[in-house]
Parts: sequence; C-alpha cells; structure tokens
Amino acid sequence: MYYYKIRHYLMKILLREVFSVDEIRKQFLADLAAAKSPQEVEEVRIKYLGRKGLITLLAKNTDFSQLSPDQKRDFGKQLNELKGLATEKLAEAASAAKSGQTAKKGPDLDLTLPGTGHSLGSLHPITLVQMELEDIFEGMGFMVLVGPDVETEHYNFDALNIPGDHPARDMQDTFWLTNGMLMKTHTSANQVRTLEKFGAPLRAIFPGRCFRYEAMDPSHETTFYQCEGLVVDRDISVANLIATMKALLGEIFHRDATVRLRPGFFPFVEPGFELDLQCLLCGGKGCSTCGDGWIELIPCGLVHPRVLEFGGIDTSKYSGFAFGLGLTRLAMMKYGVQDIRRFNSGDIRFCSQFPAAV
Ligand code: DAH
Repeated sequence: MYYYKIRHYLMKILLREVFSVDEIRKQFLADLAAAKSPQEVEEVRIKYLGRKGLITLLAKNTDFSQLSPDQKRDFGKQLNELKGLATEKLAEAASAAKSGQTAKKGPDLDLTLPGTGHSLGSLHPITLVQMELEDIFEGMGFMVLVGPDVETEHYNFDALNIPGDHPARDMQDTFWLTNGMLMKTHTSANQVRTLEKFGAPLRAIFPGRCFRYEAMDPSHETTFYQCEGLVVDRDISVANLIATMKALLGEIFHRDATVRLRPGFFPFVEPGFELDLQCLLCGGKGCSTCGDGWIELIPCGLVHPRVLEFGGIDTSKYSGFAFGLGLTRLAMMKYGVQDIRRFNSGDIRFCSQFPAAV
C-alpha cells in the first residue's frame, strides 16, 4: 500500500513536471515510428493510451485545482489534441502493419516467377488451310465468296445439270429439310448463284462446309469442307486449269507436288477430270489414308455450257473451268492427320497442336 502511494505520488510529479504534453507527443511519435509489427503497435498503444498509459495518467493525475482557468483551458485542449492524434496515428499504424505483414507473409507470392499468361487458343487446321488458300487465290486475282449451307434443290442439283432423275444424285444424298431445301452437298452449289450475280469475266473461290450421307471411316465424314473455284473468261482451256492447279499445289506444299490427271465424270463439267495428288503421308507407297498411294484431291473440268447458260452467260463468247478442292483432305495431307474424324471430334488435344495464326 505504501509502495503504491509513493509510486502514485512520484508519477504525479513526473508527469506534471518532467513530461510536458509536447514531450509525450514527441516520444509517442518516435515510439510509433519504430513499431513495425501489429504487436509492436499494440505495445505503443498500451504505453500511451492503456489504462495506465502515459497520456491516460497525465489526464488523470493532473491536479486541475492548482491551475488557473486559462491554464485549465490550455492544458485540457492540448491533452485532447494529443489523445486525438495518438488514437488516429495508432489506427493508421495498426492497419499499415497488418497489410505489411500480409504482403510479407504471402507464402505463395513469388514475384520473380514468370507469369502464367493467357493462351491465345489455336486455329482449327481447316481454318488454317482455308486462310492459306484464300491468300494464294487472292494473289491470283480471285474473289473469295461464301454461299449458304442450306441450299435450294435448283442451285445444288438442277442448275448444275443434275436433274431429279439423274443417277449422280444418288452419290450425294444429304439432309433434306421439310421445306424442300437441303444441306448443300458440295460447294459447286454456289456456281450458278455467282454467275447470276457477277456475270463474266469472273474469277472466284467459295470455301464452305458440305454435308452428305456417308458411312464414316478414316477418310469419309458426313460433314467436311471443300473449296470451289470458278473461272469464266474468253478462250479458257484445260491448259489454264492445269497451270492454275500446279501453281496452287506448289504454294501449298512448298514443293513440287506430283499429280496425275484422270478422266472423271461430273454432270456440270465437260470434259471432266480427277486430279490426284501423290500421297504425302506415305510417299506413294500406299497407306490406310490413301489406299494405293494417290489421293483424289481436285475434281475439275471445263464448265458445261448448260451451267453457263443457267447462269445467264453467253456461251458463244465465254468458257470456263471449275474445280472442287477437298479442303478437309488437303488439311489431312498438310498436317499428316490420318483420320478425318479427328476434325469434328472437338478434341482439344487435337486442335491445340495447331498454331493460333498462319
Ligand atoms: N462438286 C463435286 C463433288 O463434290 C466436285 C467437283 C467436280 C467440283 C468437278 C467441280 C468440278 O467444280 O469441276 O463431288
């Protein structure tokens, strides 16, 4: 008891006479500046604003009866300001120490590690080949056009010299809609539309998706892509056709492709050909993709006069050639894909092997 009395008395003298408000403020700010962790900030709070803290005791132990009214007012004001300052600064320091601690602590944050980045995705191999073909043909002055997937019977068959009773229709069965339209079986369906729209002379390609009734196997799919080409001008001959095809294949495969031309029948060309490419997967030896070493790649021919007439072209002035490139087959050759079913599989492991740009 005695001890506490003395302590209390000493404290009273000390606080009033030794520690002025200014000194406590100075010391408080210095202590706070040195406190880095939340624990250290808390210790400063206890030292100054705790129940027995210096600021608390300074207020408690001052004998106001000894002060003049002016001194009371001044001292009270200074004391309140000091308390306010201390409370504010402590709160700021506490939150700074806390966030500093989280940043320091952050166990998984290593700023020196390379970022994870975002994948750009990749283009489908058919898109890649299509973009490349478009570039090549645009370089030769061709327009790039698109036709609809849902076609009329007229453009898909009749206008191509394939009337309803023609046996050629059997080879191109497809999905028929209830309104009499159909999913186009070949990109040739866009030939007469294009002739009607642009007239002659004309140079155009139309890449697109085709649909057919097929028994699926490594080289047959119900949904596949073709790229049709159509050239109509004066004095067009088979020589123009062959020269264009050779230029095209040289550009695509970056080497001289070996080709052969066989007679082929298509009602909308006369004469018609099958341009075969020596298989680039097996080098012509024969494999599960090509069979006998040759891939049927480009059916083609000189446009039948009846097709030109359907398109409103004067056949006494103009002739033309057409070709229907198997875009899907070409992608198989170019990227060494051995099974056509991979293209529509939606398998991300397949697609992600291809680049995001040509
Ligand atoms: N449209 C034909 C098919 O899909 C391919 C074809 C053959 C297109 C000869 C042509 C051509 O332009 O001249 O089987």
